[in-house]
Amino acid sequence: MSHKILVLPGDGIGPEIIAEAVKVLDVFRAEGSLNAEFEYAHLGGAGYDAAGHPYPEATRILAKQCNAILLGAVGGPQYDTLPRELRPEKGLLSIRTDLGLFANLRPAILYDELADASTLKNEVVARLDLMIVRELNHGIYFGQPRGIRVLENGERQGYNSATYTESQIERIARVGFETAMQRNKRLCSVDKANVLEVSELWREIVCKVGEEFPEVALSHMYVDNAAMQLVRAPKQFDVIVTSNMFGDILSDEAAMLTGSIGMLPSASLNASAVGMYEPSHGSAPDIAGQGIANPLATILSAAMLLRYSLQLPQLTDRVEAAVKIVLKQGLRTGDIFVAGREKVGTAQMGDAVVAALRMM
Ligand code: IPM
Ligand code: MG
Repeated sequence: MSHKILVLPGDGIGPEIIAEAVKVLDVFRAEGSLNAEFEYAHLGGAGYDAAGHPYPEATRILAKQCNAILLGAVGGPQYDTLPRELRPEKGLLSIRTDLGLFANLRPAILYDELADASTLKNEVVARLDLMIVRELNHGIYFGQPRGIRVLENGERQGYNSATYTESQIERIARVGFETAMQRNKRLCSVDKANVLEVSELWREIVCKVGEEFPEVALSHMYVDNAAMQLVRAPKQFDVIVTSNMFGDILSDEAAMLTGSIGMLPSASLNASAVGMYEPSHGSAPDIAGQGIANPLATILSAAMLLRYSLQLPQLTDRVEAAVKIVLKQGLRTGDIFVAGREKVGTAQMGDAVVAALRMM
């Protein structure tokens, strides 16, 4: 059976980094270990430019038919003045909701070879390997009511609603526990239960789901403390499960522990393992088109795609091994560059991963 992979290059550095990830998947297609067809479509600002909408209907139709999506990044300053409904970010949020991609997995792994790229002391981050499981379809990002209203005194008030139902909490909690079962069996649920009712319910439901996973050591942490603990002693964490906005913030923080957000992949999964895979970083419009962006997060996202949506973990292992090889060879894009290494561009880095794969 041939898998259908929808490729959405998106905006900014998106097309450049996506090209490298496609090169990597093409190695497997050429050797016959991956039977897949690519379709291309627009999302984000690219969607607005091509079809007047950040999530065009043509993209939507292809997205509903594919087994997995590989996304570059969306966003750019030229779109910031558009009405909110037409901005690139809205395209991303819409495809996440439309496909029910509620479970966002964001690993933060520090490769030994990159220990010198972290801004934190080596002993704090050496061999860091944690996974953030972020709820992606609900919470304050989507809760109703929301808007900007005019109060009786004529002053305007902005408002959003942080909402979670029991079933929404339950299914993401389950992903958290299942992820912990495949790792070191420790799960930390992050909330703000000392202030927010939505967190009070969150904590109650997470505890209830926990009864089904007696082997997992469950702990709870307030989000402010979690933000502090992530920089103080990040290795205390194995898996973190949290709500949409807390996960947005903590995953950027966790990414930086590893030296560069340019290294970190992510997977957004629905209930039937259809997934969208994208680097955790943004579209970096400041360096777009220069051929200097780090393609490794996108290449590692393609590796996650092979594992979670196509059930080809042996190919995932090969990509991850190839990335370690190029790092060991001393190749570095600007974001992870330190003196004494070889500075390379986007395509050179992708070519090096391809070469390492072919040697295996
Ligand atoms: C992310 C991004 C998005 C989010 C933006 C671009 C809408 O920051 O994927 O973390 O907030 O979810
Ligand atoms: Mg974010």
